[in-house]
Amino acid sequence: MKGIILAGGTGSRLDPLTRVVNKHLLPVYDRPMIYYPIQTLVSAGIKDIMIVSGKGHAGQFLELLRSGKEFGARFSYAVQEEAGGIAQALSLCEDFSDRGSVIVMLGDNILEDDITSAVHDFQKQKIGAKIFLKEVDNPKSFGVAEVDGDKIKSIIEKPDAPKSNLAVIGVYMYDKQVWDVVKTLKPSGRGELEITDVNNFYVGKGEMTFEQLSGWWGDGGESFDSLLKAGNLAAMKN
Ligand code: G1P
Repeated sequence: MKGIILAGGTGSRLDPLTRVVNKHLLPVYDRPMIYYPIQTLVSAGIKDIMIVSGKGHAGQFLELLRSGKEFGARFSYAVQEEAGGIAQALSLCEDFSDRGSVIVMLGDNILEDDITSAVHDFQKQKIGAKIFLKEVDNPKSFGVAEVDGDKIKSIIEKPDAPKSNLAVIGVYMYDKQVWDVVKTLKPSGRGELEITDVNNFYVGKGEMTFEQLSGWWGDGGESFDSLLKAGNLAAMKN
């Protein structure tokens, strides 16, 4: 299965840090933020990875990450011309995936857990999608899942009244249906094609499975505090 790391977007929540430097290149303890998702995927055996970044920064990613050899991986690159959302960035990777299954990771998500076994479980699942959930104190900042036993009933993007404290983190595994789904999406209130709409397609078909993370999780781009926390957690783990 091929991997995709999405590193576009403007990083407006971290302005002025992101006025000149791309969010995913900001330091998180001893390395640029994007190193963490790369290491998560490579450790899970995903070696063929496409990195999608926005215009104006693509050259820096290429300069920093090069062929992927340093990580024991092989990198391809795509450029998202406009800030059209996560699902729009994903749609650029259809050819790269050979219209197959993919694991998608947001370039600002930092995980303590190893996800190898979940990747294997998804490969056995054959159809549908798989996501990861994590209990958080501030669910209003994320996609939030309503869960009943081992089933997800719904996912709501940044709800005003969250139905749980289970955030949908930025690692998603999709079967080939995703390539048709991304073509049907309509922009949300914030003018973006939302990954939550992709996820709800699978939820609606009863084809979404999930795993709850046990280790810490950080969305480095969510706020200054989350960036600081991610750095501190990464330092403690070293
Ligand atoms: C995105 C997703 C959201 C998810 C979060 C995880 O939010 O839209 O569902 O919970 O990543 O990091 P964004 O960071 O684009 O606001």
